Amino acid sequence: MKLNTLLTIAETQAYVKEMKKSGKTVALVPTMGALHAGHLQLMQAAKAKCDVVIASIFVNPMQFGPNEDYAAYPRDFAADCEKLASAQVDAVFHPAPAEMYPAGYATYVTVEDDSTGKLCGAKRPGHFRGVATVVTKLLNITQADRAFFGQKDAQQVVVIKRFVRDLNLPVVVEMVPIMRAENGLALSSRNAYLSAAEKEAALVLSQSLQKAEKAYKSGQLQAEDLRAIVRQHIQNEKLAELDYVELYSFPDLREMTVVNETAILAIAVKIGAVRLIDNTILEA
Ligand code: PAJ
Repeated sequence: MKLNTLLTIAETQAYVKEMKKSGKTVALVPTMGALHAGHLQLMQAAKAKCDVVIASIFVNPMQFGPNEDYAAYPRDFAADCEKLASAQVDAVFHPAPAEMYPAGYATYVTVEDDSTGKLCGAKRPGHFRGVATVVTKLLNITQADRAFFGQKDAQQVVVIKRFVRDLNLPVVVEMVPIMRAENGLALSSRNAYLSAAEKEAALVLSQSLQKAEKAYKSGQLQAEDLRAIVRQHIQNEKLAELDYVELYSFPDLREMTVVNETAILAIAVKIGAVRLIDNTILEA
């Protein structure tokens, strides 16, 4: 089966119209490329639920802050296409920035509940506005019946589910578990920035979450004590600098002092110059 390459919005709309005319359901898997097995797991989940899978590859300038890695973000469209073809993805939508944001572009989607002011929202102002805007556009362009996102970016899923509900977008949003390397490191396109020593140091993210999860399972329900377990473990790694460790109810991200319902323990850690995130869901 051939991977269809769609570079323009018009081509994509025509492709989707054709698919829908023959009664096929359409899945969208938005990505920024530099694809790894975590992304491909989303493609598999999409294939299992829909007739046609469209992956999008678009490094979205709107979701990067001025001092973030937009220019340096890894891009390898040819290699990504090979991976998508072997995963039997039907089509890839790969627009140029000017196709998505032509001159005069002036419309944004902002989720204004307090969930966007927490975690990565607090540390990356404007980030979720950029994500919400581009995902709304991608959903409108592809008219997807279902869209698939990773738990790796759990707050992103919360924000997307919020505006999909608020704006009555006719799409089902699905969250797929975090895929990890054998040593526990959550797969991420940004892992490509890490040196060998930094890759080793980056194991503190998953290790510290595991430690806290173990304590939770053996009866530690105090949010501050669980956060402290993570903090202490990360402090021991010289190359690591903790950005945040937070524990909130999930999926509504309310503060909690005692874990008495399903919660998310989420961290962001700088390893050298690279900021990595990870999380675990503590089931009630
Ligand atoms: P990107 O970072 O490329 O991630 C694309 C999708 O892959 C996201 O839903 C992300 O959560 C998921 N993903 C990444 N690593 C994963 C892992 N180890 N296991 C499971 N899923 C994983 O997230 C974005 O792009 C952008 O913000 C986007 C939604 C495309 C909007 O621009």
